[in-house]
Amino acid sequence: MSAFLLKNPRSHNCNQLTKDNLNEEVVLMGWVNSLRDHGGRRFVDLRDRYGLTQIVFKPETDEALHQLGHAMRNEWCIGIRGVVEDRVANGGAPNTRLTTGEIEVNVLEVEVFNAAETPPFMVEDNVDTHEEKRLQHRTIDLRRAPMQRNFIMRHKVAQAARRALDDDGFLEIETPMLVKYTPGGARNFIVPSRLHPGSFYALAESPQLYKQMLMMSGFDRYFQVVKCFRDEDLRGDRQPEFSQIDLEMSFASERTVQEVIERLVTRIFKDVLDHDLPQVFPSMTYHEAMTRFGSDKPDTRFGLELKDLTACLKDIGGGGVPLFAQTIDRGDIIKSMVVPKANPMSRSEVDKLEGLVKSLGGFGLGRAKVGEDGASWTQSPFSKHVTPEGIQAIHEATGAQPGDLILFQMGKAKLVNTVFNGLRLKLGAQFGLIPESGPDAWHVMWVTDFPLFEHDEESNTFAAAHHPFTSPQMGHEDKLKTDPGACLSRAYDLVINGNEIGGGSVRIHDQEVQAKVFDAMGIGEEEKQAKFGFLLDALKYGAPPHAGVALGLDRLCMLLSGTQSIRDVIAFPKTQRGQDAVTGAPTPVDLQQLNEVYIASTAPDDEDD
Ligand code: AMO
Repeated sequence: MSAFLLKNPRSHNCNQLTKDNLNEEVVLMGWVNSLRDHGGRRFVDLRDRYGLTQIVFKPETDEALHQLGHAMRNEWCIGIRGVVEDRVANGGAPNTRLTTGEIEVNVLEVEVFNAAETPPFMVEDNVDTHEEKRLQHRTIDLRRAPMQRNFIMRHKVAQAARRALDDDGFLEIETPMLVKYTPGGARNFIVPSRLHPGSFYALAESPQLYKQMLMMSGFDRYFQVVKCFRDEDLRGDRQPEFSQIDLEMSFASERTVQEVIERLVTRIFKDVLDHDLPQVFPSMTYHEAMTRFGSDKPDTRFGLELKDLTACLKDIGGGGVPLFAQTIDRGDIIKSMVVPKANPMSRSEVDKLEGLVKSLGGFGLGRAKVGEDGASWTQSPFSKHVTPEGIQAIHEATGAQPGDLILFQMGKAKLVNTVFNGLRLKLGAQFGLIPESGPDAWHVMWVTDFPLFEHDEESNTFAAAHHPFTSPQMGHEDKLKTDPGACLSRAYDLVINGNEIGGGSVRIHDQEVQAKVFDAMGIGEEEKQAKFGFLLDALKYGAPPHAGVALGLDRLCMLLSGTQSIRDVIAFPKTQRGQDAVTGAPTPVDLQQLNEVYIASTAPDDEDD
C-alpha cells in the first residue's frame, strides 16, 4: 500500500471538478492520457473511468515536480494532490467538450504508482490495431473510452433487468453449471469427474431443465443472469460461453411471459438509450416472416419484401417461362423481390449480386426490368418466353412499376428464402434504407407459431426446433404421431432489428405429451429414461403449467452499444478460434493431471495451437 494513498484519499474523480471547486485542494488518481508543453508548463490529461481532468506542472510551483512531469509517459498510473485553478485566469483556453474543461489542477505532490512501458497501442477511441492484438492486451484495450462505455452500458442493462424482474415478483435462484451430459442439443463441453472415473459432467448449455423443475417445486417465478456454454462454431454473434437473462413462470401462457419481457425490454431501452419502445410489441407468425422476408428473424426496418409467385404462376402454366413451369412441376417455389426505380442498379451491379447468390448456395439470379410501358420486360433472360398474361400476373402480384427491377429465385423453399434474405439485407444496407436513428431505428417484435420440429432429410428424422420440452399448439398433439412436420409449437422468439435476441416457449407439463414428443423424435423408451427419466419423473408429481424465455444478454448489449461484434461487450471473450487471447486457454495439461481424471489424450503433439 502506498503511503501517498494512506495520507491522501481520492477526493474527486476525473470528471467532477468545475469552477465551483476553485481554490480547493484535491486528490486525483488515474492514468496519463496525454501530455503537452505550453508556455514552459507541462500539461497532462489525467484519465479514469469517469473522464479527464487537466493537471499542470508549473516550474514556479516546484521545479522537481515539473521535471517529473516531463519524465512522465502515456499510461503511467499516478496520484496527485493539487489546487483547482481557473484555466482562463492561468492564460489557457477552456475546453467546452469536457465537464472539467474550465479548470486545471496545479500539482503540489505526485505519487507514481506504476510507470508504464510504451503500450502496444494507444488508448484512443479509434484504434486500427488488429483485433487479435487488442484481445491479447485486453487490459489496455479495455481502458479505451468506447470499451468502458460498453461495460457501463452492460451493467445498466443487467441492473435494469434485475429491477424489472424483482418488481414483477421473480426470485433469482442459481442452478448448476456442472450438469448431466445429454447429447442432441447444442454440442456440450464435457468435464471429467475425478471422483467417478470414466464419467463426465457437461457444462450447462442453459438452465432449461432446472428452471422447469423450479416451477415444479413451487417457486412460481424464477430468473437468473446466467452463463451458458455451447461448443459451437463461432460466428459474429456467437460465443462458446455467453450470458442469458433467463426466466420461467408458472401458470403462464405465452402472453404472460411476453408481457414480462415487454416491461423488461422497454425499461432497458428507456434506462440505457432513453428510447421509448411500444408497450406491446408487434407480433408476426413464423410463416408470415418466412413468406415476406425469407427469415425467421426479419429486419422489418425497411421494405424490399418478397412475394411468393408460385400459386399465381401455377394458374397460368408458368406464364410461358419454361423455368417457372419446371419449378412448379417439381413442387418447388418461385419468389420475387422488387427493387424500386428509386434505387437504380446498373447491369454490372446486378451481375455482381450473382456472386452473393452463389455464396449463399443459390444457382443464379433471375431478373427483369419493367419497361416504361409497364407491360414489357427488358434486361431479362425470361423476356423471350414470358407471355403478356405472365407479365401482368407478376406485376399485379408484386406491384412492380415502370423502371423497377424484379429479382427472382426458384427452387426449394429453404434455399430460396436463404438467398433472398441475404440479398435483401445486402441491398437494404447498400441503398441506405435502414434507419440509424429516430423513432424507426428500433424494431422490436415477436415471431410466433414456429414448427415444433425440424426435419432432417438425410436421416429422415425430426429434431426439436426449439427444444424438446416445448409444447405443441393446442389441437396439434394428435399430429405428433401422424404428421410431426405439420405440428406447430407454442414457441416465440424476440427479434430486434433482424437479430434473434431471445427465445422461449410454453412447456409441456404433461408426462404423456412429453413422451409423445420424444417418440416423434425417435427417442426410444430406454434412451428416454436414461436421458430424461428425471424430468419425466418430476412431471408425475403435480407439475404446474409453465412457460419461460431467455434473452441473450451479450447480443442485446451488442445491439444497444451499436458495435458489430459480440466480443466488444464481453470483457474477456474467446477469439474466433475459441481461444482466450489473454491467457492462451485452452492449453495442454500435464500427464499427471490427466491421469488424475482418468483421461488419455489422443491429440497429436502439435494440436495445441
Ligand atoms: P436459445 O437457445 O434460443 O434458448 O437461447 C436464447 C438466446 O440466447 C442467445 N444465444 C447466444 N448468444 C451468444 N452466443 C451463443 N452461442 C448463443 N446461443 C444462444 C440468443 C438466443 O435467442 N433454454 C432456452 C430458452 C427458453 O426456452 O426459455 C434457450 O437457451 O440471443
